[in-house]
Amino acid sequence: MFELKNVVRPNILTLEPYRCARDDFKTGILLDANENTHGPALSDITTYEELLELNRYPDPHQLELKEQIVSFRNQSPNKYSTSLLKPENLCLGVGSDESIDLLLRCCCTPGKEKLLTCPPTYGMYSICATVNDVETVKVPLTIPDFQIDVEGILAKLESDPGIKLIYLTSPGNPTGKLINVDQVVALLKKTIDTWNGLVVVDEAYIDFTASNGEYSESVSTLVNEYPNLVVLQTLSKSFGLAGIRLGITYCNIDLSRILNSMKYPYNISSLTSDIALKATSPSGLAVMHKYVKSILQQRETLLKSILDLKYVGRNIGGLNANFILVEILNKSGKPSNEVALMLYNTLAVDNAVVVRFRGKELNCTGALRISIGTEEENKELLLKFEKVLNEINA
Ligand SMILES: Cc1ncc(COP(=O)(O)O)c(C=O)c1O
Repeated sequence: MFELKNVVRPNILTLEPYRCARDDFKTGILLDANENTHGPALSDITTYEELLELNRYPDPHQLELKEQIVSFRNQSPNKYSTSLLKPENLCLGVGSDESIDLLLRCCCTPGKEKLLTCPPTYGMYSICATVNDVETVKVPLTIPDFQIDVEGILAKLESDPGIKLIYLTSPGNPTGKLINVDQVVALLKKTIDTWNGLVVVDEAYIDFTASNGEYSESVSTLVNEYPNLVVLQTLSKSFGLAGIRLGITYCNIDLSRILNSMKYPYNISSLTSDIALKATSPSGLAVMHKYVKSILQQRETLLKSILDLKYVGRNIGGLNANFILVEILNKSGKPSNEVALMLYNTLAVDNAVVVRFRGKELNCTGALRISIGTEEENKELLLKFEKVLNEINA
């Protein structure tokens, strides 16, 4: 039976969060934090820079930003949601990469406990695991539909009691495929009775899944129903803000309190929160939705044209993200890592077009992953792609 106190490492459970005088007193002559009250060392300071008070430490709690994010996600909850998200469900990080690492450090004792991933998947899970001296065990996604193997995962949990975290990616990277919500819920229900660990669903690409407006495929609004669920999102993809580094962790309030006391108090900079507030305001959301719509249209156009090319095989993955995964063939019509790598290299070195070789990932032989660009970028990619691929296979 799931109990948070048996999931979180004992040293973290008893952690007292860092406190500063500013938690209690926010106004007046502030000489409590060894800041430089003369101001930021910027010549010709702009009004915008001045308003941000960059000589002051940023707010550790970011309540206004959390309220905006929660209100956006509550507008279209998951079809299984019975309660709404609150700002207390959130912990903000320096991109979701920080959240991935934070959860590992929260739950897995180095050299002892383990992480489970479902390849092919995002590479940072196992990199963070290795850095933290945490072993990664794998239960591959099913073929050819790239879904989770619920029974396989349950069998692995039973045979290996050291596993504390499961990292799922939905929509997947590099698969571009949404994990069926019913399967995620089935996994949550089955594990909550039998296992002390967390199911982490990384939804970096969730806004690219078609939604009917009323409900969303995101499981973020289920964290109050399932204390063993954690959801990660980011402003790096649909919001086009990879440069500001803002990741969002959604979880049950008890776990959120622990994560918030573990994080560095000032991890979200004043510049980041200011831009994130604009992006998650109603006018920012309208721009995000406009860009997503255009990316989805471009994805359809690009995929159609690329699949018509002579040495391009299948679209291996799904169409739920801002990229496509396609199979590159050799002269005999077989998926080929050799040809895919040559195409990747020649495009980058001689044609200034950079895509990603993913042929070494499990069940992705010959695969290139292509992010969807603007109409002009996609047209140029397509012309060069066809020319180089035909030359390689000539
Ligand atoms: C599945 C997945 N999760 C997380 C990230 C990292 O996101 P962030 O920029 O928020 O660190 C990526 C980036 O490519 C990703 O593909």
